[in-house]
Amino acid sequence: MSVIQPQPGIMDIELYVGGTSSVEGVSDVVKLSSNENPLGTSDAVKAAHGKTGHNLHRYPSTDHAELRAAIGEVHGLDKDRIICGVGSDEVLQFVTQAYAGVDDEVIYTEHGFSMYPILARMVGAKPVVVPERERVVDVDAILAACTDKTKIVFIANPANPTGTMIGGNEVARLADGLPNGAILVHDGAYTEYVEGFDGGALLVGARENVIMTRTFSKIYGLGGLRVGWGYASREIIDVLNRLRQPFNLSTIQMSVAEAAVRDQAWVRKCRSENARMRAWLAEALAELGVPSDTSTANFILARFADQDEAVACDAYLKSQGIIVRLVAGYGLPHCLRITVGDEASCRRVAHAVGQFKAKRNAPEDA
Ligand SMILES: Cc1ncc(COP(=O)(O)O)c(C=O)c1O
Repeated sequence: MSVIQPQPGIMDIELYVGGTSSVEGVSDVVKLSSNENPLGTSDAVKAAHGKTGHNLHRYPSTDHAELRAAIGEVHGLDKDRIICGVGSDEVLQFVTQAYAGVDDEVIYTEHGFSMYPILARMVGAKPVVVPERERVVDVDAILAACTDKTKIVFIANPANPTGTMIGGNEVARLADGLPNGAILVHDGAYTEYVEGFDGGALLVGARENVIMTRTFSKIYGLGGLRVGWGYASREIIDVLNRLRQPFNLSTIQMSVAEAAVRDQAWVRKCRSENARMRAWLAEALAELGVPSDTSTANFILARFADQDEAVACDAYLKSQGIIVRLVAGYGLPHCLRITVGDEASCRRVAHAVGQFKAKRNAPEDA
């Protein structure tokens, strides 16, 4: 009798766990578990979406020419070095399929985004986890972990779930120190939250071994649309396009994303509102005895005394209709990742954490 077996590594994949969005028995819920934009999408994007009901009997374009042209124009990039995918996740998948296989090594860091080991296993490669330094990517540790089997190094910058960043010189040092034939993936899902940051575009422009990935899911408020993109050398983009299904993006995805990227006023507004509320929330939590590293993204990694306190606080927040993210799976059992919501949500979080702390610190018989 034949036994049907999946490819090596596939059964080792732990399914990605997304942020929950409901609490049983609680109706007034605020979801701060998936780093979504609390302001949603701009009016221009809503209008573009409203116009997309026509010609749905037609197949979309296979080359994403208009969307790539818009991205290129807005960011000053060569449109022929851009690839679009179903979320940046799909671009990350193309890179992994293209450049890593059985027996190869894929490096990611201690608290790195959980899709990286999933992708490595998907192609039968070995995920190699490298320590961080106090929740910050450590370039020396990554370089020390490289071997002749290393094919891909994944870093997110800003990083999720820590919210920390490394500087351009450090990223360049990493790219330049990689073994021949290894590619650096500079995952820029949170780039737009950093004023004046190009997400690594300049670095890609000057090197053959770096790809930058970006998304419409975060600051553009389009997590439900599923559009992301990558920017790399023409040679790499040519390779990735061979793995891409011809119609991976629908007409709707492309036209809505194009309207979004052209509306940079919305991006500026969301960036400044995020910065304002992020600073407020970090300070409010710190005053309650819950510190966090300076975040460069749209979330805060709140540190508690230990895992027990983090889990208890998560449960209390849920009972108050506030959903945040437990990050024990990221090697951070004593932390909660809290998306920066709108002002009302941030105030609600701070108030609930204050209540939690007061109850926890109250003497037993009080
Ligand atoms: C660091 C990082 N990279 C990539 C992604 C994937 O984003 P998407 O596939 O929605 O573009 C996320 C989503 O949370 C993320 O945090």
